[in-house]
Amino acid sequence: MAVSGRRAAFLGVGHYTPENVLTNSDFEKIVDTTDEWILERTGIRERHVVTEDQAASDLAIPATRAALEKAGVSPEELDLILVGTVTSDYLFPSTACIVQDKIGARNVAALDTSVGCSAFIYNCNIASQLIESGHYQRILVIGVETLTKLTDYTDRNTCVLFGDGAGAAVLGPAQGEGGILATHMKADGSLGYLLEMPGGGSRHPPTHESLDQKLHYIKMAGREVFKHAVRSMCEAATYVLDAGGFSGEDVDLLIPHQANLRIMSAVAERLKIPEEKVFVNLDKYGNTSAASIPIALSEALEEGRVKTGDLVLNVAFGAGFTWAAHLVRWE
Ligand code: UT7
Repeated sequence: MAVSGRRAAFLGVGHYTPENVLTNSDFEKIVDTTDEWILERTGIRERHVVTEDQAASDLAIPATRAALEKAGVSPEELDLILVGTVTSDYLFPSTACIVQDKIGARNVAALDTSVGCSAFIYNCNIASQLIESGHYQRILVIGVETLTKLTDYTDRNTCVLFGDGAGAAVLGPAQGEGGILATHMKADGSLGYLLEMPGGGSRHPPTHESLDQKLHYIKMAGREVFKHAVRSMCEAATYVLDAGGFSGEDVDLLIPHQANLRIMSAVAERLKIPEEKVFVNLDKYGNTSAASIPIALSEALEEGRVKTGDLVLNVAFGAGFTWAAHLVRWE
């Protein structure tokens, strides 16, 4: 919560998804699956996927340009860039530095964070504190993933789930009574092994053996992750609602991380938020990890689902494990 009375607000939000689309029936030709199974167990119909020559920054740049335009902020006015991604262009330099250079933001600090699907909310929450403190005025927060590059297209348990995309938001000081009212972030590294990509880092650097063992692909214990996702997202959402003095019934729009429709429904039900107040675009994009919340927020704004004065609750869960939420009075 703001100590100084100054709050951070979203000044503009944008998103970008690649053109290529993979439908459930495309997967019927790749692995032993059906459109019915995927739709019923996940809620996904199709996902957008990058081409071989597209990397994270190629998606982040158009999303950023859209966010800057909506915010009426120029790249020179930015003072910090926070990129949430586990699929950065390179191990280093950071994707944030690539974005900084490509958009011509000359007066910024820039860094990537590896927080899995919670990254956008984590970074917004950190940005919010930095704006409240008065140290920063205009912060660009990006969530971008090209998870399909880490996907094992012979593993039906994971390959049908993920899609690629980017969302971006410019945060700055709130002008009125609105803005980010409450934030929450948590982590539990003891469960990290349930959702991981073991290869490519310093534990298992890329070798012929590591490639043969498929260590450079996403591994997930889906059912375990599912249980923790529901529990942790409810905990984070309840924390920010309590901190703001609200209940689920006060929420105008819930934007949960788009991983599985059954997770989203379970979270909404426990928070007593009716279905019509839950934003869902998982059917079109699959799980885009760090990009899922900003893409959803951007589309919700475009569709007029968020209006001035609305109470918006964003909540996510991801690799680490990490989980986070924030509550926003939209202005
Ligand atoms: O973004 C970070 C957080 N990630 C998540 O939140 C994902 C959380 N987990 C999930 O969304 C779900 O656990 C999955 C969608 C991944 C899996 O759904 P499930 O209902 O938990 O299925 P399951 O893993 O328990 O598998 C049930 C059955 C298995 O068959 P057997 O062993 O019972 O014969 C799987 O082999 O479904 C089978 N299965 C499939 N069948 C057809 C798994 N994937 C597929 C598939 N098509 N694509």
